[in-house]
Amino acid sequence: MTRTIKGAEIARHIRARVAERVAETTATGRVPGLATILVGDDPASAVYVAAKRRAIREAGMRDVHRRLPHHATQTEVAAVIDELAAAPDVHGILLQLPLPAQLDAPPLIDRIPVTKDVDGLTTASAGRLARGERGLRPCTPSGVIELLDAEGIELKGACVAVVGWGELVGRPLAQLLLRRGATVTVAHEFTADLTAVTRPADVVVVATGVRGLIGPEHIKPGATVIDVGIHRTPEGLTGDVRAAELDGIAGRITPVPGGVGPMTIAMLLVNTLQAAEWEAERETVPA
Ligand SMILES: NC(=O)c1ccc[n+]([C@@H]2O[C@H](COP(=O)([O-])OP(=O)(O)OC[C@H]3O[C@@H](n4cnc5c(N)ncnc54)[C@H](O)[C@@H]3O)[C@@H](O)[C@H]2O)c1
Repeated sequence: MTRTIKGAEIARHIRARVAERVAETTATGRVPGLATILVGDDPASAVYVAAKRRAIREAGMRDVHRRLPHHATQTEVAAVIDELAAAPDVHGILLQLPLPAQLDAPPLIDRIPVTKDVDGLTTASAGRLARGERGLRPCTPSGVIELLDAEGIELKGACVAVVGWGELVGRPLAQLLLRRGATVTVAHEFTADLTAVTRPADVVVVATGVRGLIGPEHIKPGATVIDVGIHRTPEGLTGDVRAAELDGIAGRITPVPGGVGPMTIAMLLVNTLQAAEWEAERETVPA
């Protein structure tokens, strides 16, 4: 029997816990605030931002939003980021990606102060993660770790294969797993024998953007499979894993939708609360 990892349910619990903490901090006069910036008219980005804003409001946080036209210039986007960076009631800033082609994303991302980098994507946050220093971690990889923890899967000493070395998911996830004591192997598009990497693993996390890449030939019986991929098809959302073919082979598997996706939003709220708490700490603890 393959067990379905109920990401949506785990995310709901996390969001409820965040909302409780937000109510406590709000009672002391501090409302955690998260600002989202959407540039252009990409429909998928608009859907993601709307979902994030709904979650922000449901958690009782302050929802700040800036919308820029698709022809916005580098200087205009930078000015909005600077305004939010200076705003005392904004504790987190999220610049929705991808940006329109005329914009250069990395310098814009790096304008976000590390203390407000709730997406964990600035160079400073990546450096802190690499060095194991306190900081905000990217939401999707930390959501994957939360799922594994919620399922009671021991990471220390486990053999974990991460398929995909993208900046958003695979790369930071490999670092987080190493910090937890897992033996991590990372596969990517140039890996000659993918099965040789994934087949021995106790846990396989797939984040490639290649629909249906992983099937039964890649998975050791009883292994845990985490599918990060999201693909919109006429039949609905599907992932990087051929989930139906793994039924009875994988020990546990995340569904798409309802697996990793909801965790990403939950972790965004966790990061915003964390950023607001660290901000309060800086105000109360003399440097
Ligand atoms: N569920 C979520 O909340 C969430 C969040 C972010 C990204 N995603 C999804 O995760 C996927 C990956 O996102 P990303 O931003 O890391 O992508 P990316 O394009 O930055 O990285 C993709 C990685 O996959 C590797 N790859 C490509 N083809 C491969 C193959 N045949 N075999 C092995 N590796 C291969 C590439 O080498 C690269 O390292 C996408 O489907 C994206 O939609 C989901």
